[in-house]
Amino acid sequence: MTAPTSASLLRHARQVTPLVADRLVAWQHQEGRHHLPWQKVRDPYRVWLSEIMLQQTQVTTVLGYFERFLQRFPDVQALAAAPLDDVLTLWSGLGYYSRARNLHRCAQDVVNLHGGQFPRGSEALQSLPGIGPSTSAAIAAFCFDERISIMDGNVKRVLSRVLGWDQDLSVKTHERALWEAAQAVLPAKAADMPSYTQGLMDLGATLCTQRKPACLTCPWSDICKARVQGDPGRYPVKTRKLKRSERESWWLWLEWREQVWLQQMPDKGVWAGLWTMPLLDDEAALAEVVGAASLVDQVDMQPRIKHVLTHLDWYLHPRRLVLNKPADATALQARLTALNDSGRWVPLAELGNWGLPAPLRRLLQG
Ligand code: ADE
Repeated sequence: MTAPTSASLLRHARQVTPLVADRLVAWQHQEGRHHLPWQKVRDPYRVWLSEIMLQQTQVTTVLGYFERFLQRFPDVQALAAAPLDDVLTLWSGLGYYSRARNLHRCAQDVVNLHGGQFPRGSEALQSLPGIGPSTSAAIAAFCFDERISIMDGNVKRVLSRVLGWDQDLSVKTHERALWEAAQAVLPAKAADMPSYTQGLMDLGATLCTQRKPACLTCPWSDICKARVQGDPGRYPVKTRKLKRSERESWWLWLEWREQVWLQQMPDKGVWAGLWTMPLLDDEAALAEVVGAASLVDQVDMQPRIKHVLTHLDWYLHPRRLVLNKPADATALQARLTALNDSGRWVPLAELGNWGLPAPLRRLLQG
């Protein structure tokens, strides 16, 4: 068998278009998901909010957050007018906080630059913060029936299998070829775009899974090249693996009169804008901040926490110290403020109102 080229992929895609599109739409109507809350209306605000939340988080987790967000921010104007800290607090636990910061900026741009209405096309949507090609396509297909294909990880898997595209998707031109084929297999009727798009997501989430694809019940089983070849699991082909790294930090957990010392993370990077206990690079740096040897001796070494991020395994070593003397609290406060001037004592009873990273909330609130 010769390897497919971009041209042969596109030719094949055009041949199977009606089968691929019509069967997926019919399957979505019968077997797909219909009761997710963001499917009830074609409101770009709700669809956008759900798509941003779903980018790196599972549906079951998103459900609760989605409802709470809508209660607190029923429309894009309410979200744009809210302080960023409120948005981060409500986002707390979903992770990848740059999403929340972009969400807030995007809401403000929609209000300030677009008169409070999301632009009605995928191109224009991409000019907004946090909205990339796939998210813009999802919003445009769901809300405006635009004939544009989403292209997230699930869709790459599903389409590379059915079309037998075994070229390395970490090469941009190969990914581009798959996207062009994805455009070629869209349903002819624009009105079918919401069901088709949801169908791609549903098929990827339920049948055409990474490890154990359920080919026997798949609407495409007889036309799927990967199935005919006998090894769908080898798709999608992607050679460049994400490079993971490790980091260790010492987490100074200072308590004083039922309060804990928190400081705000910088605007960029992990936990951007959230509140955390001071992070030190090693035990020695921690001892230096704590100062007096008598206090260092009282530090309680807690078991390390492994926090897994996309690119990074972060090992956090909590070191707890409960202060009793006002002079100690004053001295530590001065040293910590010299390192980071955002720090402050936060009453333990008020932590619910603060944007904390999920592992810190678990640690402090149990
Ligand atoms: N993942 C991304 N978008 C989704 C959606 N609209 N429904 C279910 N899962 C999704």
